[in-house]
Amino acid sequence: AEAQILVGRKTRVQQYTAKLLHGPEHTVTEIPGSYLGPIIRLQKGQKVRINLHNRLDEDTITHWHGLHVPAEVDGHPMYAIGSGQTFVYEFEVANRACMAIYHPHPHEATAKQVYQGLAGAIIVNDEIEAALGLPTGEFEIPIVIQDRLFDGQNQLIYAPNMHSNMFGFYGNRILVNGHPELQLDVATRAYRLRFLNGSTARIYKLAWDDGTPMTVLGVDGGLLEQPEHKPYVMLVPGERLDVWADFSNRTLGSELVMRSLPFSGVLPHMGMGMMGHHGFGLPVGSDYAIFTARITKKVSDSPKLPIQLAKISRYGIDETHNPNKAVPITISEGHMAMLLNGRPYAYKDIQDRERIPLNTIQLMEISHEQGSGHGMMGMGGMGEGGGMGMGRMGMGGMQHGGMGGGMGMGGMMAMAHPIHLHGQSFQIVSRSIDSSRESDYATVNQGFINSGLKDTVLVMPGETVRIIKPFQDFKGLFMFHCHNLEHEDMGMMREFLVE
Ligand code: C2O
Ligand code: CU
Ligand code: CU
Repeated sequence: AEAQILVGRKTRVQQYTAKLLHGPEHTVTEIPGSYLGPIIRLQKGQKVRINLHNRLDEDTITHWHGLHVPAEVDGHPMYAIGSGQTFVYEFEVANRACMAIYHPHPHEATAKQVYQGLAGAIIVNDEIEAALGLPTGEFEIPIVIQDRLFDGQNQLIYAPNMHSNMFGFYGNRILVNGHPELQLDVATRAYRLRFLNGSTARIYKLAWDDGTPMTVLGVDGGLLEQPEHKPYVMLVPGERLDVWADFSNRTLGSELVMRSLPFSGVLPHMGMGMMGHHGFGLPVGSDYAIFTARITKKVSDSPKLPIQLAKISRYGIDETHNPNKAVPITISEGHMAMLLNGRPYAYKDIQDRERIPLNTIQLMEISHEQGSGHGMMGMGGMGEGGGMGMGRMGMGGMQHGGMGGGMGMGGMMAMAHPIHLHGQSFQIVSRSIDSSRESDYATVNQGFINSGLKDTVLVMPGETVRIIKPFQDFKGLFMFHCHNLEHEDMGMMREFLVE
């Protein structure tokens, strides 16, 4: 019934059309009964034209997250169109086979529009991947995970406030492909599950409830070289994950639940308790179900897991432009602000940009500054009632209770940030964690996939991640930002000017 309420409501996505004029008939597939945008299937090398008709009563623009496209069609907020206008996208699909995302990117309104339904999956195919014979058709299932907050009448709530701007807006229900408590009926054979975290802020630690390892085929930018077996996999907003799920040896009628397992350290310790402030929270890092697979059909044959999936050549660092010196991307958490390179997003300020020479391959270092005792994330003046459990956070003299206005709070309150870079995929070179953060880190780090091609990476408090990223083919402005979309809208975004 709840699913029908979701579907039956006139959501904004129903006013939104992304229509491909070129391409095969099956290019656009609706997800039945879902508020999500249709799945757009593209072929590597294909030329596409997409018309975005804005039937909202506000500005919007669509970004093709994960696709390597010219800056003019990358969905930069300066290209946002007003109500009633049309934006025509034309580009050639340069990516190898992968899952990408389309979602809005208007200035300071990305989170709200994504939350209200404007997002969908793109699946890029190519001949190399097709030759592997991985499960397709009904055996290749998108798993788009989003958390949403519903009131007592099952109406969607998006009510950001200073608290949710700082920590992210979190829902009380988990939706998969637009459905709460999704049940997938599966046969006794192998499936390919294409995960996408389309939540604005929530981080998941995905695992099968019976301890079966997760068999990972690929990440953001497509297949890994070989499948990897993991006890669990972290999935942060904006990330994708390609999973081989083999139900061959399961008994008819049995069920397997995909859960998010407990973890810590991605929010300030107080944050866990704070998530209850709507009265019916689903705390980040707690244990809850994502969906259930139910074995309803017996079949006799199933594809086999390939031993080798793809060849990925390591990027070499460009000697002439970037000798041993990493381009810094620093995360800092200021007073009511989340910053990259110490500054907020400088919309339309043409002077204030990170510059990168065209056709170079850059070593970059994303680091998360630790609070050094000067009142990181001071929260004076934050007048939000609703008893917030203070947990283990050091707060001179303050015990459990509501946080009234005007309270100054020192101490470290660092949190994790999913950092996303537009343009070409990058490779992760190394990760290191500050020793003071090791115990929290141990609750998540077995779930990082550091091989393969990425466009979004979780950076934990006290962590430094080194990546190599090419800036080829296209000049212009390419954004990089936190994919906690509340943070993005708060200005945790910068741009590379590729020139
Ligand atoms: Cu998925 Cu700039 O975003
Ligand atoms: Cu993107
Ligand atoms: Cu962030």
